[in-house]
Amino acid sequence: MIEIPGFDPMFDDAMWAVNWQAIPVALIPPGEHPGGFRVERRFLHEAMIFDRPYRLSQPFDCRFLYDPEGRLWMSNTPQEHIMMFNNGSASHGHVLVGGLGLGLYPQYAAAVGAMTRCTVIEHSPAIREIVEPTLSVALADLISEPLNVQTADIEIMLAGPVTTRYDTVFLDTWPAMDPIYLPAINRLRDQARRHLAPGGRVLLWGYRWMVQLFEQACAQVLIRPAHARRSWLETDAKAEPPVLALLAPVLDHFAGQSLEDLDAALVWCRQHIITVTGA
Ligand SMILES: C[S@@+](CC[C@H](N)C(=O)[O-])C[C@H]1O[C@@H](n2cnc3c(N)ncnc32)[C@H](O)[C@@H]1O
Repeated sequence: MIEIPGFDPMFDDAMWAVNWQAIPVALIPPGEHPGGFRVERRFLHEAMIFDRPYRLSQPFDCRFLYDPEGRLWMSNTPQEHIMMFNNGSASHGHVLVGGLGLGLYPQYAAAVGAMTRCTVIEHSPAIREIVEPTLSVALADLISEPLNVQTADIEIMLAGPVTTRYDTVFLDTWPAMDPIYLPAINRLRDQARRHLAPGGRVLLWGYRWMVQLFEQACAQVLIRPAHARRSWLETDAKAEPPVLALLAPVLDHFAGQSLEDLDAALVWCRQHIITVTGA
């Protein structure tokens, strides 16, 4: 497996965690916010966690954040908590966070990880206004310096000059755990690695999960006879153009080859999707 300094592509933040519910996490207050944003409080009795349905032993306190058009934007589901717990546990030192969201990750990074300082880059002024007050109070006794939130675009910041070096960079700005985002995420990751202090690491929400989904898609294609792969993808699987574009290098690499060893082929696919960069 290719080495990427400062990044472990096998780190799996979608693994089950046992202690996450023991960590108190402050949630934003329900209510109406300027600009038409709205936060609702609801208790969940069941939830999907990593594609499996669960009945929860206790009602789970949840916030649903709606945008001015009434669309659900974010919520703190149990799966979200587990993933933030896992990323937080792997964090240390001065942490740069891309995407404030509901402010879960920094609380885990301070409580179960070894975060000492926290700088958050959030591009939505509304999210900052809604979440920063709750998060500042929650972190006050846990880290040595006050929370530093800046309204900016993390992509522009990471592409720019290196001014501060961080022990951890945690990025969670893409809309879903879908492998089509991986080339752009890899580009962001490589820019983030420039900003690391010695011994630092980059953590990316859902990365291993997305790589696994890509490998599963590759396996589905590669088990077909070599001559039938492209037509199967286009006609039977009805793959959309972004999926076709993502899988095109796999089709090209294995063109004309009937595969004896699918596992070996999937190792190539994994290496490819971990290293490919794009817009
Ligand atoms: C899913 S949320 C992050 C959840 C967060 N990890 C938590 O613990 O609650 C994604 C956040 O990233 C922000 N965001 C998206 N693109 C961004 C960008 N280019 N620069 C900065 N923030 C961005 C969104 O406004 C949103 O607040």
